[in-house]
Amino acid sequence: MFYEAKTNQHNLAHDPFKAIISPRPIGWISTLSKDGIANLAPYSFFNAVGENPKMVIFGSVGIKDNARNIADTGEFTCNFASDNLKEAMNLSSADCPPEVSEFEFANVEKAPGQMVKCPRVANAYASLECKLVEIINPLDIDGNRSNNYLILGQVVGIHIAEEAIVDGRFDVTLTKPVSRLGYMDFNTVDNVYPMMRPPYEE
Ligand SMILES: Cc1cc2nc3c(=O)[nH]c(=O)nc-3n(C[C@H](O)[C@H](O)[C@H](O)COP(=O)(O)O)c2cc1C
Repeated sequence: MFYEAKTNQHNLAHDPFKAIISPRPIGWISTLSKDGIANLAPYSFFNAVGENPKMVIFGSVGIKDNARNIADTGEFTCNFASDNLKEAMNLSSADCPPEVSEFEFANVEKAPGQMVKCPRVANAYASLECKLVEIINPLDIDGNRSNNYLILGQVVGIHIAEEAIVDGRFDVTLTKPVSRLGYMDFNTVDNVYPMMRPPYEE
């Protein structure tokens, strides 16, 4: 089958787009509003986009509370969404009004940031403290303003729980990151294997 993305006439019960780009890591993003309300929500349009300096990006479909807080404060934290916290992570996606903290709504314990003012998830195996580099609100190919807000941040501080380090490595078989697939589906890492990059041979 083939269909044009713009018309989206796939004739399937549900849009397959996000299932095709899966699994997607989940950035469980925390921020602080300018009024001091701690905000928390998962974003699966999320990834690392460089390591020197370390940068991450996430996509907010419209200006949601986290995007507004980041525009106001220039700071955010990406908390590691692990299998043991997945219910709380999902709860924190509820459409709470800006004056309601999802930390309280989803019963998630806060811990203070070290290099940013926004709190992090105390029980997360890892958290990346970030400073805003740029918010990009691109035009589409027809020159129309899109509803995509791409939030690019530079990682300035990294928290790792001691128990997550096994033999000197952040152990994903122990921490079990949760990722987003298509539809309402999720996935947990349970099968890890190494694969070496080949040397170039003519
Ligand atoms: C696993 C998961 C991933 C999500 N990913 C995104 C995303 O990438 N972009 C987005 O705009 N909303 C995403 N959402 C929805 C937001 O979490 C939801 O709109 C939330 O209320 C936004 O919170 P905020 O307004 O406090 O920032 C996702 C929800 C879930 C459960």
